[in-house]
Amino acid sequence: MKSLKTLGQFIIEKQTDFPYAKGELSRLLRDIGIAAKIVNREVNKAGLVDILGTVGDTNVFGENQKKLDVYADEQFIAALKDGGECCFVASEEQEEGVELTDAGISKNAKYIVCIDPLDGSSNIEVNVSVGTIFSIYRRISQVGEALTQEDLLQTGVRQVAAGYIIYGSSTMLVYTTGKGVNGFTLDPSIGEFCLSHPNMKIPQQGHIYSVNEGNYLKFPQGVKNYIKYCQEEDAATNRPYTSRYIGSMVADIHRNLLLGGVFIYPQTALQPKGKLRLMYECNPIAFIIEQAGGKATTGTERILEIEPEELHQRVPAILGSTDMVNKVLEFLDKS
Ligand code: AHG
Ligand code: MN
Ligand code: MN
Repeated sequence: MKSLKTLGQFIIEKQTDFPYAKGELSRLLRDIGIAAKIVNREVNKAGLVDILGTVGDTNVFGENQKKLDVYADEQFIAALKDGGECCFVASEEQEEGVELTDAGISKNAKYIVCIDPLDGSSNIEVNVSVGTIFSIYRRISQVGEALTQEDLLQTGVRQVAAGYIIYGSSTMLVYTTGKGVNGFTLDPSIGEFCLSHPNMKIPQQGHIYSVNEGNYLKFPQGVKNYIKYCQEEDAATNRPYTSRYIGSMVADIHRNLLLGGVFIYPQTALQPKGKLRLMYECNPIAFIIEQAGGKATTGTERILEIEPEELHQRVPAILGSTDMVNKVLEFLDKS
């Protein structure tokens, strides 16, 4: 019988990849895994909210009903706070981020976490997959000193780990520490994430393009031309490609990571920087995509090399199979 490897076992095994690691990053990843299971439990019963109680009631979370993205935010922050390895959390749900160094246990914490606690949250009402995205940095300033802007706004290449959780038809946690990408599926019968997708690689070329075509008329000409290219018939290159767009970045990326494809969220006249956020959406996903052998760019620069200016900064994003991303770049160059 094949033996199961749990996320906890895998993390400890991989700690030896980092000769000077003292286990702090391992504990941080473990804490994120635990919070993910709690969020998963609530996401799974989201449809029951109207039955169990609505806003103002006190019987679901033991306190006033909250939107699930706020609930997820609270759960991840609580897990990071209790774990003691994280000194600062930058979250989509927190304008300024949350400093944890005041809590005694986190006084000497070395890590900064950027998180999108619930990605694709507008999909939750209609029972479509949602996710969580996280990114981990080591602080630059000395422990014990005040945190600086330099600590909080690091470039994506400095990430020490990144990952996502997809709450889908099954729940998976996928992460990288810069040595490949591994995926774990939650086995609800034992309540553990188990290694199911070791060493994930994105196909170099796929035939799925993922873009919100409702915005087509506002796209840059190069993106419009690329979309037309995807739709043209050409047996030699397996076109037309298939259009797939869920509207939860995690779910769109997860599918394209497994099957090959390109995900595009470009800038438009209305959104000159695009929509997706650099620190807790694009950087972590770009790290995973690159580690899986793919490519991640804004159209003009590698996402991981962008110098961040603010926590909630938006950037255009083209992510996925290397050959497909290069093709989009070719069209952008030509226009
Ligand atoms: P969030 O729910 O965290 O705000 O993220 C939603 C994001 C992302 O998941 C998705 O790819 C994108 O918004 C969809 O945007 P459009 O509806 O504009 O296509
Ligand atoms: Mn999001
Ligand atoms: Mn979100």
